[in-house]
Parts: sequence; C-alpha cells; structure tokens
Amino acid sequence: MSTPEDGMTTFLRVEDLHAGYGGAKVLHGVSFSVERGSVCAILGPNGAGKTTLLRALCGMVKVRGSLVLDGDEVAGRTPDSMARLGVAHVPEGRGTFGPLTVAENLRLGAYPRRDRAGVEADLRRVYDYFPILRDKQHDPAGGLSGGQQQMLAIGRALMLRPRMLLLDEPSLGLSPLVTQELFGIVRTINEEEHTTVIVVEQNAHLALSVAHQAHVLETGRIVLSGTAAQIRADEQVTRSYLGYRVQS
Ligand SMILES: Nc1ncnc2c1ncn2[C@@H]1O[C@H](COP(=O)(O)OP(=O)(O)O)[C@@H](O)[C@H]1O
Ligand SMILES: [Mg+2]
Repeated sequence: MSTPEDGMTTFLRVEDLHAGYGGAKVLHGVSFSVERGSVCAILGPNGAGKTTLLRALCGMVKVRGSLVLDGDEVAGRTPDSMARLGVAHVPEGRGTFGPLTVAENLRLGAYPRRDRAGVEADLRRVYDYFPILRDKQHDPAGGLSGGQQQMLAIGRALMLRPRMLLLDEPSLGLSPLVTQELFGIVRTINEEEHTTVIVVEQNAHLALSVAHQAHVLETGRIVLSGTAAQIRADEQVTRSYLGYRVQS
C-alpha cells in the first residue's frame, strides 16, 4: 500500500511480485521501489529474470503480487493499458519494424495519443536527441546500424511521452562508443524530462554511472539493493555478479 508520504517520492512500488511462463516460475517475490524521476538499474547474471521483470512491469506477463504506479494498483493490466498509463518498454532486441521507415516506426510509438501537435513536437524532440534519425527518417528501419536501431527503439518509446521508460539491455551488441553515447542521452532524457527510468544492463559499470539506485537480481530474487555508489563499492558483489573488479 502506498502512503500519502511516499506518494511524494515513490513512483513505482513493486511488492512480492511473482511471475513466470506457464508452470515455469521466474520471479519469486520481488520487492523494490523506484523514486519519481530517478534512474534505477537492475543488474544480475544471465537468466536471473531481468527481462521477465520488465515484461511484468509493462503487463506482458501475468503477475501475482502488487504493482503500484503513482499511487494506483496496476497489477494485471494489459500492455495497452500500461502504455496508456505512460509506461514505455524498449524490449531486448529493440523490436523495431524493419520494412517501415524510421518516421513510421516513431509515429507507432505515439499510437495512444490524440494530441497531434504534441506528437509532431515530440517527433522534432526525438530528432533533436538523435539527429541521425532525422537524416534517415524516410529510410527503412531495417537498414539502420545496431546503434541507430537502438536509438530508434528509444525514440519510439519517447513518442509515448512516457512517465516511465523501461530499457532492456540497450548496450547489447553495440560498440563501447555508441553505448556511451546512448547512456549519455538516457541521462539527458532523465534530467530534462524527469522521466523515471528502469534500465536492465549487462554492462554494470555503465549502468551504475547513470543510475541513482540499483538492485541485483539473482534467480528471480533481489539479493542486494542500494545506491549506485553502494553497489559499486561492494567488491564481493562486483566480483560475483557484475563481471568486473573495482579499481583499488
Ligand atoms: N518466453 C519464455 N518462456 C519460458 N521461459 C522463459 C521465457 N523467457 C524466459 N524464460 C526463462 O525465464 C528465466 C529468466 O529469463 P529472463 O527473464 O530472460 O532473464 P534475464 O533477462 O535476466 O537473462 C530463464 O530461465 C529463461 O529460460
Ligand atoms: Mg534479458
């Protein structure tokens, strides 16, 4: 239950969340909160359930437990309903439509919106964040590089004018330079638009450089939570889960 007090700062409260696929249980009672306007990183090894958690947060998998978004219980809502509540999901593998143009892909992200002028303004805003997408707006999305497709996927999510952005491994398959650029833009979006962001990332170092809070997920349970600085400083964790060593 949310209290009037946490209504001030908590944007998402996840409590005792269970989810899976048919008989295969993946999340076993996950609980955490995300502050309004903050960036939250979800870290953890392959198969831990990070993707499933993001799917649960946007209504793509059935859940048991509680999901309170901005004070309202939303567990059990459909993906469409979650999108209309302002939850934009950038899935693993991006999910852009190759035969459609860049501009058509971006407009798809605004599908629930009726404010035409606002949509056009947001299209310009996305092109300002990602000028390469403006240059390629009439090209089929399928011809973009991996980094450009990730920009398109994030841009499409922004077209919802989301209150919360869910990013699933945005760095997957991208060069360090492109990844760095993408995370810089995610940080700018968070700072300028006050969009709450949850980012799942295998590149823990990078995720922790942008995130305020972080949670480590292991076999469907959160095993560690803290500020990004606390998680980074925990050498045992960085060795066991995060795949890099802290500098001494
Ligand atoms: N569509 C699916 N159907 C059945 N099992 C799945 C499906 N997707 C993922 N799983 C299983 O759920 C577990 C967690 O997967 P996932 O959420 O993708 O983890 P992560 O993103 O942390 O690598 C894994 O054991 C995986 O095999
Ligand atoms: Mg995953």
